[in-house]
Amino acid sequence: MNVYAGVKRMYRDMTGASAREARDWLLMRESRIKALEELIYLREMAIQNEQASSRKIQSDYEIRLKYREDTVLEREARISDLEENVIALEELINLREMAIQNEQATTRKIQSDYEIRLKYREDTVLEREARISDLEENVIALERKAREFCAGMPQVEVDFGRFSRASPQDRALMAWQAADGWCTREKALWLAHLVESRHVTRALEIGVHGGKSLLPIAAVISAWDGVTFGVEPWSPDIAVAEPTTGANDDYWRNLDYNLVKSRFHVAGLKLGLTRHIRMLEISSDQARLALADQRFDLIHLDGSHAPDQALRDIIGWSALLSESGVLVVDDIDWPTLAEGRAYLARHFLALDEFREAGGASYGAYLLRDKPA
Ligand SMILES: C[S@@+](CC[C@H](N)C(=O)[O-])C[C@H]1O[C@@H](n2cnc3c(N)ncnc32)[C@H](O)[C@@H]1O
Repeated sequence: MNVYAGVKRMYRDMTGASAREARDWLLMRESRIKALEELIYLREMAIQNEQASSRKIQSDYEIRLKYREDTVLEREARISDLEENVIALEELINLREMAIQNEQATTRKIQSDYEIRLKYREDTVLEREARISDLEENVIALERKAREFCAGMPQVEVDFGRFSRASPQDRALMAWQAADGWCTREKALWLAHLVESRHVTRALEIGVHGGKSLLPIAAVISAWDGVTFGVEPWSPDIAVAEPTTGANDDYWRNLDYNLVKSRFHVAGLKLGLTRHIRMLEISSDQARLALADQRFDLIHLDGSHAPDQALRDIIGWSALLSESGVLVVDDIDWPTLAEGRAYLARHFLALDEFREAGGASYGAYLLRDKPA
């Protein structure tokens, strides 16, 4: 007998139900049990679902939590990065500020140094100006005194007021009259014209003697504040160092050079020209070395007429002519100047050549090509 038959029997025994009723009762029980099992199953499923969904929610939360935690960590790392950056930038700014402060201090120091130096320069310039004006006053006073002192000397008197107001030609003539020497009146006026027409500001003469040609040149140049250099050793040893002709050499050997020299200075003082004259009391050759870096608008050669010296003078001094400088050569007709004249003909253009009735000869020349 199976379980169902046994249960049916028990039910019939207990309730007195028929076999049919027992069978229906059993079927009903079975279906209720099934329903309950279904219910249980469904509940279980529901519980499982709930568990699954709560696990899902939990895991979602965990993921989100994890994400949040990661984000927080990232943020913290970023914050710490940024904090480091801020510190580094603050340090940089501090350093820049210090550098700027240093720079400002240096600039202030430099500026104050410059101000001190500028002040010193200004003071120096003022001192120099005061000294210059003192010296100028001294020179004027000394010139006046010297003119008074020389007034008694047996020389042509100079009306200084008239001289300073005169035209260049008249000034040259008055200077020519006041000086001793060899230059003719015509030559002095011609030289004055040359100086004036070429607006010579720097002239030089070799062989000044008593200034009869140099002072007319200086008289014209002084009108525009130029300067005239004179080279004159006033020495017999130099004057006859190289022979010319017997009579000529005798003359220069026996001359009272001190007298010539002092009369030249007196004439210069009387004319008020000393500020415009620079004298070099040395030979032509020595002067050429001393003045090698200077340039002149007019050079008048009237020193030694010995052949070699005259040629040396023409070649050497022409190198010191300025761009359009003019070379004036005295006594071009002297036989001792033959070589010099030949050199002039080869390298110069003759501007003017004069031969006076009394024997004076001179010319003005422009360099055609500057010798290398
Ligand atoms: C003819 S005089 C000059 C005249 C002057 N230029 C005038 O017109 O009255 C020549 C001068 O050249 C000077 N002399 C001679 N040899 C010289 C030299 N080697 N260097 C410079 N001057 C020299 C003499 O002492 C002399 O006073």
